[in-house]
Amino acid sequence: MKVLVVGSGGREHAVVDALAQSSRISKIFAAPGNGGIAEQAELVAISADDIERLASFAREQRVDLTFVGPEVPLSKGIVDVFIGHGMPVIGPTADQARLESSKSFAKRFFETNQIPTAAFSECSTPAKAYHVLERSKYPVVIKADGLAAGKGVVIAQRPDEARDAIKLLMEAKSLGEAGAKLVIEEFLAGEEASFHVFADGATFQPMVAAQDHKRRFDGDSGPNTGGMGAYSIDTILSIAQHDAVVNRIIRPTLQAARSYSGILYAGLMLTSDGPKLLEYNARFGDPETQVILFRLKTDLLDVFTDIVEHRLAARQLEWRNEAAATVVLVAREYPGRVESGKEITGLNEAKRIEGVKVYHAGTRSEGGRIYTNGGRVLNVTARGATLAQALEKAYFVAQMIEFDGKDYRRDIGKKGLAK
Ligand code: AMP
Ligand code: GLY
Repeated sequence: MKVLVVGSGGREHAVVDALAQSSRISKIFAAPGNGGIAEQAELVAISADDIERLASFAREQRVDLTFVGPEVPLSKGIVDVFIGHGMPVIGPTADQARLESSKSFAKRFFETNQIPTAAFSECSTPAKAYHVLERSKYPVVIKADGLAAGKGVVIAQRPDEARDAIKLLMEAKSLGEAGAKLVIEEFLAGEEASFHVFADGATFQPMVAAQDHKRRFDGDSGPNTGGMGAYSIDTILSIAQHDAVVNRIIRPTLQAARSYSGILYAGLMLTSDGPKLLEYNARFGDPETQVILFRLKTDLLDVFTDIVEHRLAARQLEWRNEAAATVVLVAREYPGRVESGKEITGLNEAKRIEGVKVYHAGTRSEGGRIYTNGGRVLNVTARGATLAQALEKAYFVAQMIEFDGKDYRRDIGKKGLAK
């Protein structure tokens, strides 16, 4: 089979790497891919949101199956276009992807379907937003309605901070149209967890749980980022929490969002009152995918084929009874502006370490060398019998790899060790 993977991050590298293990793969294309993906796939110089060119490419190359990583092409309707051309594709339609692309749509959906979530108000004008703040408890959570690449959420501790956030988002339009509408919601306390399922339009199969680390610095301090690391162990959710997520959150969602197909990722808060849904994403999480797929024993291409053929109900997913952890190596200034083009060394040595994969995110390859190309550079991912062993290996390899300005969090998985 010929497969096209759309995207260029560590998530897409993990997907390409998993597909490359399949005996049924004859060719993988990645658009636009990165320096690591280039070792397992042919890179295609089309950007991930150039839907028409991606569709033409897939048709000309007779691609059998396309997988879409990022949210932007999904929200712009890449799946609708591929389906329109009769080409098999993994992902929800633009309409279904509104569960991620519009927070107000998503919150109303949760409310209608009685899915446990934070209490909220929807605000389309600054006046309404300031009014809602007057009767809010603090901290309060303010969210831009549209896609904002992780920058759309403000947790305000005090009224003045909350008012500043509204001024910035709605009046100064700091995120453009994404902030034209806001959701103001109740702050939920607890541990976060990422829960993913594969869905084929009729049924779903849960994946193992993971936990992301969104803040830039140790101890969950500093600005939010696209993710500084993740781990996956079975004890992230208790059996009761797992059942509550499946029965009270995922099942009612997929019953209401009829025919939802692809990956659904629930961002959860494990509150003292049971798991509550913070948000949905209509795609795989990054860097959660890196640890989840590193535990998947089942052939990922078989799962993807089940999805497009609506045969997921008969599939028994098999997972390694091990822990996985990933440490994101970033450029020091990330998430601020970074300088790219630094040569990366130590990657070949890292390849020789058993139970470790270094997924590339912001890299490019040139003349047989690999250079940094963005703020999030590499995802050093390791498996171990215990989380402590997986982390030890990941950190060992994180030290072997060098590039100018390399930085990473030292406390990935620390909360999981306590479990
Ligand atoms: P989101 O962009 O919706 O994933 O939100 C980003 C982060 O904000 C989440 O990962 C949480 O850490 C935090 N967050 C969002 N909503 C809430 C809430 N209602 N209560 C507490 N924290 C929240
Ligand atoms: N890991 C957070 C995200 O992918 O949105």
